[in-house]
Amino acid sequence: MKQAKLIAIGDPASSVRCEDVPGLGEPGAGQVLVDVAAAPINPAEVLIMKGEYASTPELPAPLGIEGAGVVASVGAGVSGLVSGDKVMIVPRANWAQQVLVSAEEVIKLPAGIDLRQASMLKVNPATAFLMLTTYVDLSPGDWVAQNSANSAVGTSLIRIARQRGLKTVNIVRREEAAAYCRSIGGDIAVVDGDDVASRVAEATGGAPIKLGIDAVAGEAVIRLAACLADGGTVVNYGMLSGKPCMMTTDQTVFQSKSLTGFWLAKVLGGMNKAGKDALYAQLAPLVEDGTISVPVEAAYPIEQVQDAVAHACREGRDGKVLVLPNG
Ligand SMILES: NC(=O)c1ccc[n+]([C@@H]2O[C@H](COP(=O)([O-])OP(=O)(O)OC[C@H]3O[C@@H](n4cnc5c(N)ncnc54)[C@H](OP(=O)(O)O)[C@@H]3O)[C@@H](O)[C@H]2O)c1
Repeated sequence: MKQAKLIAIGDPASSVRCEDVPGLGEPGAGQVLVDVAAAPINPAEVLIMKGEYASTPELPAPLGIEGAGVVASVGAGVSGLVSGDKVMIVPRANWAQQVLVSAEEVIKLPAGIDLRQASMLKVNPATAFLMLTTYVDLSPGDWVAQNSANSAVGTSLIRIARQRGLKTVNIVRREEAAAYCRSIGGDIAVVDGDDVASRVAEATGGAPIKLGIDAVAGEAVIRLAACLADGGTVVNYGMLSGKPCMMTTDQTVFQSKSLTGFWLAKVLGGMNKAGKDALYAQLAPLVEDGTISVPVEAAYPIEQVQDAVAHACREGRDGKVLVLPNG
């Protein structure tokens, strides 16, 4: 069986290697064996390779935060899953032709779902959904502002917000990305800049915005917070600029704006199986019917995982890079 492993910390492409490893055998009681169909390269994966993530694994380490596949066989005592079922795999070792996991650690997917899209269900749609629904009470017609809006999280957020009757202000760093956000239903899309708050206020007619979603950190947080009404909340979930989050004291003290952070790994870690099933039962149908759809720029066989990682590290991509462990 082929499996990609992290063998060093440093340059991402050369820190990963595809190896032949022993087969996993038949599932034991309560386990399922899954043929992995697709697994994306998540930006967090690249941060792990560079040693810039929350924690650094002991090497060599399995990789693949997300993945989806088909149940190959089930062990004794497993109910509700049979061979041939499509599943999303929760544990983070999906850059492999097969995974052997507890049946509690897979989410059964609708039969009609596209497995490449399903492989990107675990992290980004869930992140967008939970950030939209956890921090601020929003009603149909309310506005939400976000940066990095053309990212996979951002585009999921546009689609989920629209489905809930919310309006979105989408901040990006290039005009083509703004056009893309509009094309998928973003109400307003603007290129970031020092005057972004005044351009947003003009475009929304001064509508109050209570929630700002930030993946960039650094001074981008100040610019996003400037778009919010007094008392508004910024939820930070990424550090694409590589800089610490910043807000001015005018914003925190005089305008009562606040900053908090979201980390899906922690939220999922605190959720039981029923909670996860309920979360993804809301999201999987949106992937199945195409409401949530993430462009894929390239897909590589697992033997070419180094090329896949190098591709994922390129700026200005128009979609995700996937690893297809079984071709
Ligand atoms: N906290 C959590 O639980 C959680 C969950 C999911 C994702 N994330 C984080 O969310 C972020 C987005 O993930 P994704 O998978 O949605 O990304 P993605 O689809 O790969 O898109 C990357 C985005 O980042 C933008 N970008 C890259 N470098 C930037 C910079 N220096 N300044 C501003 N924008 C920059 C890109 O803009 P261009 O298109 O213009 O290049 C693009 O919009 C990542 O940081 C990821 O680690 C966090």
